Amino acid sequence: MSTAHNSAVPGDFAKTVLMPGDPLRAKFIAETFLTDARLVNNVRGIQGYTGTYNGVPVSVMASGMGMPSMGIYSYELFHDYGVENIMRIGSAGTLSADVRVRDIVVGMGACTNSNYASQYGLAGTFAPIASYKMMRAAIDACEKLGSRYHVGNLLSSDTFYADNAADANAGWQKMGVLAIEMEAAALYMNAARLGKNALAICTISDSLVTGEALPAIDRQNSFTEMMEIALRTAVTLHG
Ligand code: HPA
Repeated sequence: MSTAHNSAVPGDFAKTVLMPGDPLRAKFIAETFLTDARLVNNVRGIQGYTGTYNGVPVSVMASGMGMPSMGIYSYELFHDYGVENIMRIGSAGTLSADVRVRDIVVGMGACTNSNYASQYGLAGTFAPIASYKMMRAAIDACEKLGSRYHVGNLLSSDTFYADNAADANAGWQKMGVLAIEMEAAALYMNAARLGKNALAICTISDSLVTGEALPAIDRQNSFTEMMEIALRTAVTLHG
């Protein structure tokens, strides 16, 4: 059965789904990297495609921006479509002087300033973490490709334009958080709750330390490198 947000039917998605934020990125990935890609969802323009990569079934669908949007789409993929592995492939701003623009950050954990975890009624703070299996496969791919990568904590923020950004960021920087994005923590929590696997990897598009921002062409190149990592990870998970 399809859902309120997804017109695909069970069986339309592969076990592994790659999730960029942007629907046009999903389309680009499907057209550039997948063989025999077919559109399986286009509700609200959140394009979802399924095809193969090196003979392995892989899907790609946009998450939209922010934890509520990622929360909806990843929940449905896990819960209603039998998806086992979701890999977010996004951009992030670095909070660390050691992490430069174009570098890749593998999100071992995802802190958040959102209230998403309150739904679980826990008597403490939940620590959203990546799937070890997926993270290990992604790090292997980074090594093989010779990528400049870092492994550590992301911050999934509810705000892109924060009123007190400098003060808020300083606190996370003190705790060694590497980069700020807006979706990973919801993905990790959904995976934990549903017994599934998730990972977020991000290319650094801008620095909150130096103010540097990647020009459009460089964004495209580092995005392609991240795609190679994600697709190799999908193949490893299949094998
Ligand atoms: N904040 C949140 N998400 C982001 C940023 C940022 O500065 N840069 C890229 N994604």
